[in-house]
Amino acid sequence: MQTACLSFLYRHIRHFVITQTKDLENAIEVGDKWLHRLYPIFKYIAFHFKIPPSLETKLYDLTFSSPLTIASFKDDWTVFRIWLDMGMGGGTFKTIMSHPRNGNQKPRIIETNIDGKKGLINAMGLPGKGVSGLIDYLQKQDLTTIKKPIGFSVGGNSTTEYLQNLNRLDAFLAKKNISYYLEINISCPNTPYGQDMIKHPNLLEKLLEDFRRTSQTILGVKLSPDQNNEDLLEFATLIKEIPRTYINIGNTSYIKSTELFIGGGGLSGPALFPRTLEITQLLSPIGVPLIATGGISSAKEVTQLLESGATLVGIATQLVLDPYQIPIINKKLVKHGHLEKRN
Ligand SMILES: Cc1cc2nc3c(=O)[nH]c(=O)nc-3n(C[C@H](O)[C@H](O)[C@H](O)COP(=O)(O)O)c2cc1C
Repeated sequence: MQTACLSFLYRHIRHFVITQTKDLENAIEVGDKWLHRLYPIFKYIAFHFKIPPSLETKLYDLTFSSPLTIASFKDDWTVFRIWLDMGMGGGTFKTIMSHPRNGNQKPRIIETNIDGKKGLINAMGLPGKGVSGLIDYLQKQDLTTIKKPIGFSVGGNSTTEYLQNLNRLDAFLAKKNISYYLEINISCPNTPYGQDMIKHPNLLEKLLEDFRRTSQTILGVKLSPDQNNEDLLEFATLIKEIPRTYINIGNTSYIKSTELFIGGGGLSGPALFPRTLEITQLLSPIGVPLIATGGISSAKEVTQLLESGATLVGIATQLVLDPYQIPIINKKLVKHGHLEKRN
């Protein structure tokens, strides 16, 4: 009941903030500032939810307290931490590129409504602090107080840059007393080189082999729902050959939109779910662990994906629209025995 009230309150405040600000990105920034202020005061009343022990899930030697994970899209540690406190089992930080970037021109994120279901279209273009900036930022955060696996997503304009970024972050994180993994984003639809490796699987193969020569850190590859099934199977077969890897299915799906400055971007939210389920069913027989991401907003969908072979699920849009669904989903997964068939 308490969670349902908080969810109601959150959605109404969010609606109010959006109507008061000119653009969705501004509304998100205002919302995040409020979360920073409210979290220390109301931490245990409004942002802390226990995760039932039966939801614990393993990815190799990493232990996630719930199969729900934060998909890569946020680079604010406080907000990230709030979602972990609310019941996410772990999560991946926003993709970082080599150097600081402003991303694409605004407007670059809008809300959309497909068949009555709210989603987002974004053309952010991977704005961020760059690897050095991220390392400086992380130095200042209380990373070790989180006992959950944290992923770091890496991008690049060439395979050399990807490898350098992976190695730099890995070297930094290895010295911290935290449980972490790395993910390479080869499926961003919003940057000029964001999908180069999708067109050239041999580049990905070399990158994975090169990284594995020097590190045993768990490494994920984020694929795109826009790849055809044949390509996805080829990638999964290639990734399976490299130890301690996983596949993240998947990124946003490209769609045109005149409301965005650059004329199109990545669709996220419930419209993606049927494709996420289809790809999970397609790739699970290959035997690489899967994080199924795309369109998840209910316990029923989480169950479908886990029963289809996903190890974990990733959530982004639902966290923006209403993060109080996290404790609700965790509770329902246990109540309805959804996860009993997992093992
Ligand atoms: C505003 C926004 C920014 C995103 N940034 C990234 C990113 O930096 N790296 C990445 O791999 N995916 C990024 N994504 C994609 C999400 O991680 C996720 O794969 C996608 O939104 C589908 O999941 P959803 O339907 O739960 O949102 C972003 C999504 C959104 C909405």
